[in-house]
Amino acid sequence: MASADLIRLRGGKPLIGEIHLRGAKNTVPKNMVAALLTDEPVIIRDVPKIEDVDIMSRLFMRMGVEVEEVRPGTLQIVAKKIKLPTRNDLVDITGRSRIPILTAGPLLHRFGRALVPKLGGCNIGPRPVDFHVKALRELGADYDENEENGVFKTKGLRGAKIILEYPSVGATEQVILSSVLADGQTELHNAAVEPEIMDLITLLQKMGAIISVDTDRTIYVEGVKKLSGATHSGMPDRNETASWACAALGTNGRILVRGADQLGMMTFLNKYRQIGGGFDVNRDGITFYREKEKLSSITVETDVHPGFMTDWQQPLVVVLTQAEGRSVVHETVYPSRFGYIEELNKMGAKIKLFEESPEMIKSKFGKRNYRQSAQIDGPTKLHGSEMTVPDLRAGFSYIVAALIADGESTIHGFSVLQRGYEHLVAKLQSLEAEIIEVKV
Ligand code: EPU
Repeated sequence: MASADLIRLRGGKPLIGEIHLRGAKNTVPKNMVAALLTDEPVIIRDVPKIEDVDIMSRLFMRMGVEVEEVRPGTLQIVAKKIKLPTRNDLVDITGRSRIPILTAGPLLHRFGRALVPKLGGCNIGPRPVDFHVKALRELGADYDENEENGVFKTKGLRGAKIILEYPSVGATEQVILSSVLADGQTELHNAAVEPEIMDLITLLQKMGAIISVDTDRTIYVEGVKKLSGATHSGMPDRNETASWACAALGTNGRILVRGADQLGMMTFLNKYRQIGGGFDVNRDGITFYREKEKLSSITVETDVHPGFMTDWQQPLVVVLTQAEGRSVVHETVYPSRFGYIEELNKMGAKIKLFEESPEMIKSKFGKRNYRQSAQIDGPTKLHGSEMTVPDLRAGFSYIVAALIADGESTIHGFSVLQRGYEHLVAKLQSLEAEIIEVKV
């Protein structure tokens, strides 16, 4: 297979050292969207150099928003004189990220109209936007979908009572960003309460918003007339933390993830410990390592917060190929997020996929109760292989598998990982991974 986008690695060496986290991929681009709600400067610190940030910067600049890197890793965004994006502005953005749909609310407030590109993001099965559209309609917008883009229109957004069918992260953010400047109060039931959402709420609170979160997944937004500028550091990336934690456990190494925060990782850390992983939490971050020589099998079900995140399962499955006995991982958030299993089996793993969840696992939510499960029998020796990255998190799981395996592995489509992992090659090098070749 010829490709100019690959990484070639030799496995068998423990990863040892430290890496530094910056603001989360699933937070920082949304904090950028919040800047569209004011004409004053919003300063965002700890911005990672990843593609989702780059796409939003490009879109903003085409809208006339000033986006300036005032210091390395600090963006100043001023959305004073802005214009609606045109179809041409969206051509190379369409299909590349999930974030642009979140500009709908801010643009509706400013122009009564919003053109948003068809969404992209990881290739992990169908990812509809029906919850977003329904919520915006309830807030007073009309939606017209055409082939490349969607057009929302409104004569003015007003507060509403909205009940989400499922606690969707994106739809919750959509409602919050659309209702902060709406007329009256919005009551969002069955909302997602991920720490990334709380991070967005804290930025909006600094900007002057009035938002409260109840214990029963209800979020109340009191519409205000105006928001002002603010300075914010996005929360550290929980998914990247879990990725490196699995790399440490799988390779029998030791990695200090600087900036990692225990609070958002509690569910992950419990499972990590049950498998045999060790971690030390201190002011600098969390150090991950192997506590027990023999790893133990476990059962995990992915879920919305405070459950085990769907973005954590892929590198974990690789670690479970090294655990004694049978593990089961049940995916309930997405219908198709085990696209990477076949390649792991080619490397020597023994993983079976089931369309029915095992009886002992009872899913908590209705409509999204997907029944895909992976049954992993271990421990198995992994050997080097050649594979192509299907999506971001699966791509990282291939990196972990390649680092555990005997011999050389070639991972094609390596650039997909740049969507969410900043300076990945440099980080791998600093952890003493044996990189033979990189072409991006
Ligand atoms: N869904 C619908 N209709 C909608 C919206 C969502 O059916 O209108 C479904 C989805 O298809 C999925 C479920 O609801 O089955 C959950 O989707 P959610 O809206 O919660 O996900 P998202 O906001 O699109 C974010 C992250 C994902 C992460 C999920 C779940 C961003 C940019 N992406 O996606 O991150 O997996 O929440 O925590 O924030 C990743 O980082 O690799 C990644 C995929």
